This record gives sequence, structure tokens and C-alpha cells, in this order.
Amino acid sequence: MASTVKLLSALALTFSVSGAALAEDLVGDATKGEKVFKKCQACHTVEEGGPNRVGPNLYGFMNRGIATAAGYNYSAGMKEYAATGAKWDEATLFKYVEKPKALVPKTNMSFPGLKKPEDRKDLLAYLEAATGYKK
Ligand code: HEC
Repeated sequence: MASTVKLLSALALTFSVSGAALAEDLVGDATKGEKVFKKCQACHTVEEGGPNRVGPNLYGFMNRGIATAAGYNYSAGMKEYAATGAKWDEATLFKYVEKPKALVPKTNMSFPGLKKPEDRKDLLAYLEAATGYKK
């Protein structure tokens, strides 16, 4: 009995360790990501109930669907992209922040993009935490 318990906890440990390693590969470093987000801050707030600026408030954006921040007037291009059934997840965001106009050709978000994959990963980790993303 005792040995079964030991075996089970050893297994649980193995799984949780490999799970954590995987998650880290995908999400990057939120502390570094907060610095990357400084490039977005002129136009976006992240906190719940934060104001729309030049761009929409991003609280909950990965759960609420594309182009749906309350009181924000999106471009026709972003609405068209939303109508394709796409959603903001790690894969679409990774592409969008690399080069917004490559993913959403008619967006009016004037931001050239983040070339470094590391910056994009770190930014995503920060954004998910700061905007209350519920996976
Ligand atoms: C110069 C201002 C500006 C900067 C800088 C900027 N954005 Fe935007 N962002 C916008 C605008 C404007 C929109 C709305 C685009 C549209 O309607 O086509 C937008 C839209 C978005 C959306 C879609 C939101 C939704 O509700 O669907 C996301 C996500 C986003 N921006 C993330 C970022 C991130 C991350 C950065 C930094 C890497 C950034 N933006 C930098 C202006 C900006």
C-alpha cells in the first residue's frame, strides 16, 4: 500500500514537472513581457474597466472575441477578420503582433510589429495574465 502511494506520487510529480516545462515553452516570461508591452501602452489599457484609447481596452479580449470591446469603434478590416470566425488565441496573436497588417490587412492599428519571437512569447505571457485570460 505504502509503495503504491509512493509510486503514484512519483508519477504525479513526473507529470506536473513535464507539464510546467511545456507551458513555459509556450508562454514565455511575463516580467519581460511587461516591458515589451510598453510599446503597446500608448494605445491600449489592460485592466478591467480601463478606458479605450487609440486602441481598445484589452481586458478579457482573448475570451470575448475579436473586435468586441464595449464602446470601441473598430475598423471595417478588423470586423471582417472577426467575421471569418477567427479568435484571439496564442497562435493568432503570435502572428498578429509579428506584423498586424499581414494577418488583418485592413486594420488601422499602426504598429509595425515585433520581429523577435522571444519578445512575442514574453508579451503573450504578460498579456494573458494582465487581461485575465481564462484558458
Ligand atoms: C498606435 C496605436 C497602437 C499601438 C502602438 C498598438 N495598438 Fe493594438 N490596436 C490599435 C488600434 C487602433 C486597434 C483597433 C484596430 C482595428 O479596428 O482595425 C488595435 C487593436 C488591437 C487588438 C484587437 C483587440 C480586439 O478587441 O479584438 C489587439 C489584440 C491589439 N491591438 C494588441 C496590441 C499589442 C499587443 C500591441 C503592442 C505590441 C499593440 N496592440 C500596439 C492601436 C495600437
